[in-house]
Amino acid sequence: MDKLCSKLLNYCLMKCSVQNMAVEVVCLAYAFLFGVAAFGPTPRTVWKVTETDLIMFRSPEVYNYSVLLLNEDSGVLYVGARDAIFALDMLDIQKIQKQVSWPVSEEKQNSCYTKGKSKETECRNYIRVLQQQDDSNLYVCGTYAFQPVCDRLSISEFTFEEKQEEGKGKCPFSPTQSYTSVMVDGELYAGTVNNYWGSEPIITRSSQQSTLRTEYSIPWLNEPNFVYADVVREKNLDGDDDKIYFFLTETAVEFEFFTKLLVPRIVRVCKGDQGGQRTLQKKWTSFLKAKLACFSPELNFVFNVVHDVFILKTPSWKDTVFYGVFTSQLNNAGVSAVCAFNMTSVETVFTKGTFMQSVICDQTQTKWLQSSKEIPSPRPGMCINNEARAQNINSSLQLPDKTLQFIKDHPLIYDPVTPVGNRPKLIKAGVNYTQIAVKRVQAFDGNLYDVLFLGTAEGALHKAVIYDTEVHIVEEVQLFSNRVPVETLLLSSKEGVNYLYASSSTGVVQSPLAFCENYKTCTDCILARDPLCAWNSGGNVCVSIYKPGLDQSSLVQQLSGDSSTCKEVDEGYETYPVQILKPGEVAKMVCHIKSQLAYGIWKFNETEMIISTDSPKYYLHSEMLLIFNVSQGDYGLYECFSREKVKNKFHSHKMAGYILKAPPIVHHTATASVTSTIQITMESSMQSTTHSASSSAFTSNMDTTRNPTVELLSSTLETLPTTVAPLKTTFVVSTISAAEASQTVTCPSFQRVDYLESKDCGIYAAFLAIFCSLFLILLWYSFYKGFLPNVRSYCSALRSKKSTSELADCERGQKEGLMQKPCLNNVQSQQNEQPKSVHDSGYEMEPDCENGKLVHEETSQEAVTEKDKPFDVASNLKYVDSDGEE
Ligand SMILES: *[C@@H]1O[C@H](CO)[C@@H](O)[C@H](O)[C@H]1NC(C)=O
Ligand SMILES: *[C@@H]1O[C@H](CO)[C@@H](O)[C@H](O)[C@H]1NC(C)=O
Ligand SMILES: *[C@@H]1O[C@H](CO)[C@@H](O)[C@H](O)[C@H]1NC(C)=O
Ligand SMILES: *[C@@H]1O[C@H](CO)[C@@H](O)[C@H](O)[C@H]1NC(C)=O
Repeated sequence: MDKLCSKLLNYCLMKCSVQNMAVEVVCLAYAFLFGVAAFGPTPRTVWKVTETDLIMFRSPEVYNYSVLLLNEDSGVLYVGARDAIFALDMLDIQKIQKQVSWPVSEEKQNSCYTKGKSKETECRNYIRVLQQQDDSNLYVCGTYAFQPVCDRLSISEFTFEEKQEEGKGKCPFSPTQSYTSVMVDGELYAGTVNNYWGSEPIITRSSQQSTLRTEYSIPWLNEPNFVYADVVREKNLDGDDDKIYFFLTETAVEFEFFTKLLVPRIVRVCKGDQGGQRTLQKKWTSFLKAKLACFSPELNFVFNVVHDVFILKTPSWKDTVFYGVFTSQLNNAGVSAVCAFNMTSVETVFTKGTFMQSVICDQTQTKWLQSSKEIPSPRPGMCINNEARAQNINSSLQLPDKTLQFIKDHPLIYDPVTPVGNRPKLIKAGVNYTQIAVKRVQAFDGNLYDVLFLGTAEGALHKAVIYDTEVHIVEEVQLFSNRVPVETLLLSSKEGVNYLYASSSTGVVQSPLAFCENYKTCTDCILARDPLCAWNSGGNVCVSIYKPGLDQSSLVQQLSGDSSTCKEVDEGYETYPVQILKPGEVAKMVCHIKSQLAYGIWKFNETEMIISTDSPKYYLHSEMLLIFNVSQGDYGLYECFSREKVKNKFHSHKMAGYILKAPPIVHHTATASVTSTIQITMESSMQSTTHSASSSAFTSNMDTTRNPTVELLSSTLETLPTTVAPLKTTFVVSTISAAEASQTVTCPSFQRVDYLESKDCGIYAAFLAIFCSLFLILLWYSFYKGFLPNVRSYCSALRSKKSTSELADCERGQKEGLMQKPCLNNVQSQQNEQPKSVHDSGYEMEPDCENGKLVHEETSQEAVTEKDKPFDVASNLKYVDSDGEE
């Protein structure tokens, strides 16, 4: 079928008969069968909500924040919502400067209700037009319970002028009808519908004096869905006029298909248009429209619905680029595309393209064909330019009837506007883009890069950068946690203010343009390939290039992703956490790789491990490595590397390292010697409460000392409340079983030891010491006999493998082997138990107990990783990381 489609399509393309676009669309349906679903670049980083410093604005009981207007000179973001308008501080949108409500009167609401509309939703005032009229006024229009009205809002007082004007032709009647508007030199250009039923589409220009509008006929506008409008100023250097562009999707007249075929359009009108004298009186004489062709030749895929457009304005208007987000009409898989159109191709189509004309066949059918008629002069649809002036035409009112009649009948250009590169810049499956904003950024390499900000139908934002041969999606941020579609995107362009504003039905969000500080290492900062970020080798941080007061010379930016310039200090394996495991136990090593473009490589004793997916011994997960049934040959050095492919080159960097050790062989030791060691160790830990130095001291102890008691002691210390946080994170899995064991014994609290020692109460101290050493011997004995193995971690590991029968066996065995295991027994039995004094000691027992809940939550991947915490490995990794930053 794919072959057939390609053939048909090639045929369509070669014949270049636009009427056969129908075939293309049929092909669309099949394209889904061929793996399009997995198409497109993956965002490198997906930030969690906690990693992004977004500022959210929402006012109680106010919804449908549909229009945003930024006034950068006064630093205000205006927001139009349902029944209300807000003026917010552009730098912190939670600061409301002014607000005004604009509800529908009770009487109007009731009459709307009697027409069968919903009083609570539809019969309200949805703000649809919010524009800056002049320095002191905003121009605001709302649906006003299906009777659209406009009014002027004083910026200083934030009160309405109360001279309501008819909103018809500027603002839709219903909140579900489409709208777009732009204010140019005090005149409002709007595209919307002109009647209650929404059957009469219209593009207008309204000013105090007059209104210009479209002809009401199918060739002009056919069920359009307006998405965007903006002005491109041409500075009148060659005597030409400024132009206003509208973007919409409408039902095609030129194609035949069994269903309504949609087509994306670009519409152009001239700012100086005055309408015609006799023909096209008070109507546009410069109205022209053309098809936007966003088509992927590789996928045989037509994107025929435009959702939003951003006009990237440049110092020279001729370099203007139109960026649009598109999907296809049969978008059941959610495939979006971004196409860029340059001004050259838009200009060429409008000024040189051939027109289409309708022909009546069989007395009833209307067919649209390429017009072969002679084109009158001046060319229809042109603005008044020097050429027209040379013919003594200084205003559209002086245009000859022939030209006007032609444009009235032939507003559609046959030639489509083709995208830059003749294909989409970006195609992405599995996402519906709703909004686009673009920022052109000058990077340190001197080149300009277009950074695309794409809002999705699920309330997220993708930031993509266009590089020569590819589009790289730097990151994904969830702007709206309730996953409502992004309805408006706005970028600030003022020097020093780098924010993005987004609105949805539930609120407004202010986001930074980049999250550079989240990249903790030079390598990560470079591999992100974000032109807005650079590595500051002086401060050892990744910073935004717009951060004020930066010393350019100490900044590194390599958009090629070449991180070899990074001089990262290798901490060496001395800093790795040590896991002490008996043969037969399970090792769990976490390696958190944030980049979605990277994969993890594990090395054992500096040799890369080859781990097959069906290996019974190893289990490799994106975040961790499990080794089941640890044996003698498994002890050694483990290191995890993140390997990321950038431009066909691999970049690796170390993410984590572990040392797996066998437990030492323990001999019986005299009670007295243990006692003395306890005191020594306690003292040393007391001296170093928070220093990380103490932790490394312990680690080296473990490495060098052959005296087993010291080792045992240091792990027992864990169970005592003397242990401070940094210490705890150093001794990882090995200490957990010891901690569990301690639950059965009431150990003295730190304060008491401290008190006793300081008061020199020798007898009490000796008692205490004997008691503790007895416990230690008991503990060691339990270890030796295998009563207290690391069954718990083994079971959890099994859980994540979801082997239920093994799991049941394991838990049973464990319950038998252990008398006191409150966390693993179900919650009820835990509640029945007397609270133990250990629980009061300050040692964190709660996470252990939460592990018991794992069983209920194992289906959720997120829950599993979250609940992995009892192992303390994750926090340990963080600790190692933060070490690396210093
Ligand atoms: C208005 O907001 C509500 C609440 O989020 C939403 O359900 C509704 O669809 C919105 N209506 C329009 C027309 O956007
Ligand atoms: C995209 O939109 C289409 C049509 O509304 C919908 O069927 C599809 O599920 C959406 N896909 C995603 C990934 O949101
Ligand atoms: C504009 O786009 C067209 C179509 O892809 C291309 O042929 C032309 O070279 C581009 N012009 C400029 C100035 O980029
Ligand atoms: C791995 O290295 C450790 C020392 O770093 C050594 O004790 C162990 O025997 C080595 N294991 C293998 C299988 O080579």
